[in-house]
Amino acid sequence: MSKDKSTVFFCKECGYETTKWSGFCPACKTPNSLVEAPKSSLPGRPQGGLSRPGNRPLPVRLSEITADAAERLSTGFPELDRVLGGGLLPGSLVLTGGDPGIGKSTLLLQICRQMAEKGSRVLYVSGEESLKQLKLRADRIGPFSGEMLFLCETDLEQILAILQDQKPDVCVIDSIQTMYAPSAASAPGSVTQVRECTNLILNRAKGLGISVFIVGHVTKDGAVAGPKLLEHMVDTVLYFEGDRHAAYRILRGVKNRFGASGEIAVFEMLSSGLKEIPNPSAYMLSGRPENAPGSVISCVMEGTRPLLLEVQALLTRSNYGQGRRTATGADYNRVSLLLAVIEKQLGIPLSDCDAFVNITGGLRAADPALDLAMVLALYSSHRNLPVPSQLMVFGEIGLAGEVRSVSLAKERVQEAARLGFTACLLPKSSLTSDLNARGMKLIGVSNISEAINWIKEE
Ligand code: TYD
Ligand code: MG
Repeated sequence: MSKDKSTVFFCKECGYETTKWSGFCPACKTPNSLVEAPKSSLPGRPQGGLSRPGNRPLPVRLSEITADAAERLSTGFPELDRVLGGGLLPGSLVLTGGDPGIGKSTLLLQICRQMAEKGSRVLYVSGEESLKQLKLRADRIGPFSGEMLFLCETDLEQILAILQDQKPDVCVIDSIQTMYAPSAASAPGSVTQVRECTNLILNRAKGLGISVFIVGHVTKDGAVAGPKLLEHMVDTVLYFEGDRHAAYRILRGVKNRFGASGEIAVFEMLSSGLKEIPNPSAYMLSGRPENAPGSVISCVMEGTRPLLLEVQALLTRSNYGQGRRTATGADYNRVSLLLAVIEKQLGIPLSDCDAFVNITGGLRAADPALDLAMVLALYSSHRNLPVPSQLMVFGEIGLAGEVRSVSLAKERVQEAARLGFTACLLPKSSLTSDLNARGMKLIGVSNISEAINWIKEE
């Protein structure tokens, strides 16, 4: 291992920096996770001389800082603008992650086209595809006008020089794993390279006020390669969720320095590129079965937006002694917990049943408000008893089988009313006087037995 003072090591799992190498990371204890990087590549590191008073930076008061509300650029997708916090900020760095083939390059090409049409100067750098392949994709999307330049290059020094010459307003780097900076002596796609390249792009883009979209591949365990490393460095992180074989894709803002995070935009992949879905709730519910046992409608909050979705459950007798549990879109541990609560509180033996829970629409939902819908869907499947199709259900469930209140009940009820639902099963403690939605029957329940009795009587 190098003893050179200009070398530091950082953990490729948690990003911890140290000057001493060891067999495991002192912070997260992962074995063999420390990798070597040149000190010069680390951002914002003072290079000495700070002890001299003349060189010291001066702290300032908040009132002395002037900040003009920077004008945001529209990407041409109103939903995406909302996820970005009102549009793209000049000089910001946006990381777009997602599985291969989910539509990252398509989305960025469409953004480039729309921004170029509105007068922005755009440079699209591809390290993955040839100009001919880019042309073929562009032809599918539609006619291009405006000033838009394409470049196939992986040498970052060349790209930085071109950025300096051309000074575009928007630049796309597709993808960061293919880029190579000669200053970091390791292979493209390695942690050191990805970190060095992002850092170099960041410095140049901030200096010139260029907005940059960086495409990052997602590795098997769901982290952008250069494990989570890039997320700390960029301003905004967007992830594509959903199955690449399904028609719809969900773009989620995971981090946003210039707006709220957690907002989502839903797109549909057509033969002519991605199309925005302005009313995702209606879209999520399209094609749902009517009066089918095991199907329950619930509402989750995605950022500031309520989203209706269908929870499906299937309980069957297992061919093997021990039942299997499968969760798609829902949290596996949560499903296991809810099955245990049903067993204990309702006295229904389920250990020899296979249980499948599915959130339709390709969304990964972590909102605890889904609990009550999952329990009712499991019960409905077990007893072969359909839940009324015009009923929307939400509420968190505790270990004693109690139904606990969740945030923003009013927004959820209003969204259900907007889509024509006539009844809502919700936690009793969430029933407040301001909840009244016109034509909506509100049923408050305090535990799962009450909820199930209501379903049985309907
Ligand atoms: P792509 O954008 O290349 O995905 P990524 O850059 O994330 O790897 O393309 C995604 C898929 O979308 C690809 O299988 C082809 C398909 N596609 C369409 O269905 N319609 C289109 O108009 C385009 C351009 C691609
Ligand atoms: Mg691509």
